[in-house]
Amino acid sequence: MSKTLAEWSAGHDGLPPIVTVAAWKGGDGKSTIARELAYALDAVLVDFDWDDGCSSRSMGYRHERYVRHPLREAFAKGRTPTPLRGRRKADLVPSYPAWGDEQPDRDEITDALERWARELGRPLVADTHPGGCEATYGAINAARVVVVPSVLVKESLNALEGMVNELTDYPLLVTPNKVSAPGAWARRRLAGIVRPHEIPMGPLIQREPWLEKRTLNIAVVSEPVAKQARRFVDSIDDLATAVMNYA
Ligand SMILES: Nc1ncnc2c1ncn2[C@@H]1O[C@H](COP(=O)(O)OP(=O)(O)O)[C@@H](O)[C@H]1O
Ligand SMILES: [Mg+2]
Repeated sequence: MSKTLAEWSAGHDGLPPIVTVAAWKGGDGKSTIARELAYALDAVLVDFDWDDGCSSRSMGYRHERYVRHPLREAFAKGRTPTPLRGRRKADLVPSYPAWGDEQPDRDEITDALERWARELGRPLVADTHPGGCEATYGAINAARVVVVPSVLVKESLNALEGMVNELTDYPLLVTPNKVSAPGAWARRRLAGIVRPHEIPMGPLIQREPWLEKRTLNIAVVSEPVAKQARRFVDSIDDLATAVMNYA
């Protein structure tokens, strides 16, 4: 039987679930999916990316305006950050540019995420920098589910293969993104990557040209949903269901 959001959010032994969105290749949709999934799951989005294309910036957070950075303070003082409240977008623990150099090692990240989820009493969705860095490995270690978006083109599939071979025993959920009539070659290649490891697949997310041009910083899945966004919103809902029911 499938879980309700309330049942899922309660987690186990007082630890609400942590979901990490990661991929070894940039541009495959980590941040897009992390923002929408966090909103759909009523989770706090923890942004561990530091590039200008990161979720914090797309959500309208401008680090230049602030002298204090919640992630820096959280690790310097060992405190749980207070998420910024989002209206029609997920509550956010934003990143900042120096995080790339300042991030602590993976074990500290894992411990911190678990502590924050417990103390906030909320599920967390972590968005990550492309590839494996300390914060990414730490967030993968903390995760109940690791959502791995992959575009069905050669370079992305090569990166996916490398990631899957490295992280065989982690709870990966491979989610094809920007799908537009994949050729037989791409489907065979994808199957050849996930099947040997019996990695489950999330729903296909279609390529949505309007999404590439979108400048609004509210979640696409927040009501009311624009007509052109219906298909995308349905696939994010399906992804949220797949995350909640991940065995
Ligand atoms: N399903 C999709 N259809 C069309 N464009 C998409 C889709 N998913 C993501 N994008 C676009 O692709 C670009 C990269 O996405 P992003 O989420 O920032 O990737 P990442 O965080 O992995 O680098 C963005 O311009 C985003 O709007
Ligand atoms: Mg990103």
